[in-house]
Amino acid sequence: MHIPVLLNEVVEFLNAAKGGVFLDGTVGLGGHSAAILNASPHNYLYGTDKDRESLDIAKEKLEAFSGRFTFFHADFKNLETLPIKIDKIDGFLFDLGVSSFQLENPERGFSYSREAPLDMRMDKKGKISAYNVINDYSYDELFDVFKKYGEIENPTRITEQIVFHRKQKKIESTDELKNIIRRIAPKRKTMDPLARVFQAVRIEVNQELTGLEAFLSKLVHSIKPGSRIVIISFHSLEDRIVKSVFKTAKQDHLIKLLTKKPLAAKKDELQMNIRARSAKLRACEKI
Ligand SMILES: C[S@@+](CC[C@H](N)C(=O)[O-])C[C@H]1O[C@@H](n2cnc3c(N)ncnc32)[C@H](O)[C@@H]1O
Repeated sequence: MHIPVLLNEVVEFLNAAKGGVFLDGTVGLGGHSAAILNASPHNYLYGTDKDRESLDIAKEKLEAFSGRFTFFHADFKNLETLPIKIDKIDGFLFDLGVSSFQLENPERGFSYSREAPLDMRMDKKGKISAYNVINDYSYDELFDVFKKYGEIENPTRITEQIVFHRKQKKIESTDELKNIIRRIAPKRKTMDPLARVFQAVRIEVNQELTGLEAFLSKLVHSIKPGSRIVIISFHSLEDRIVKSVFKTAKQDHLIKLLTKKPLAAKKDELQMNIRARSAKLRACEKI
């Protein structure tokens, strides 16, 4: 249902075979969590995810490791509020974005290749859904979302068309949104405009980038010497934030970089998992 990307690399960069306490900020279906727990019988794992449904599946999957992990239904950016001693953690993993389980779930509305209600909330209790963004945001707000999170150079036509159509009838499904975009922005080989629109709305709904930089900047200060952070990102907006935080922390002599350049998946992994194509892994160690 979800193939964890760069699995061996994550375990290696976390030094998980050495034994310790780890935190998986994005448990998803628990693929990376399982590998971390499997790497040493002495490992303990804390985990967070915004998606309760995914966490429940992960918990079942990790039954064999019962007693060695604690999961919280929470945003990792709120780590400080959880009963976890951050300065005792030996390694942190953040595998950002959405899982195949979420993308391919026909009810969740993350993907334009599946007809579904416009939702896209990782946390089903989240206040804002894709429906609200598409139907309730003002022209200017929508324009900004497409520009900032979809990196669409000139989203004027896309925004105009959405605003025009929603005046006739609320836009309720992924297919309705898809048809509006397709009519004005034909498919392209590299980064299809439709993919950009869906990415932008998803990032806005889940506030994926809001506070990420502040969270990571604080984290590099709070962790203990020797502790490692591994981050996998799937688009340039996320990767830029990670790169910039690591660069500043390195200049401040807080960390050493374990990856000078982001690591990408190798050919054999790509053959098995197309999702790994856009994955970039960066890792650092606290000095
Ligand atoms: C790429 S998937 C992780 C897959 C996981 N590593 C595995 O092996 O199954 C990303 C997961 O992170 C969760 N997520 C994304 N941003 C989050 C955040 N800020 N806090 C907590 N969970 C988040 C999503 O709900 C999703 O389940």
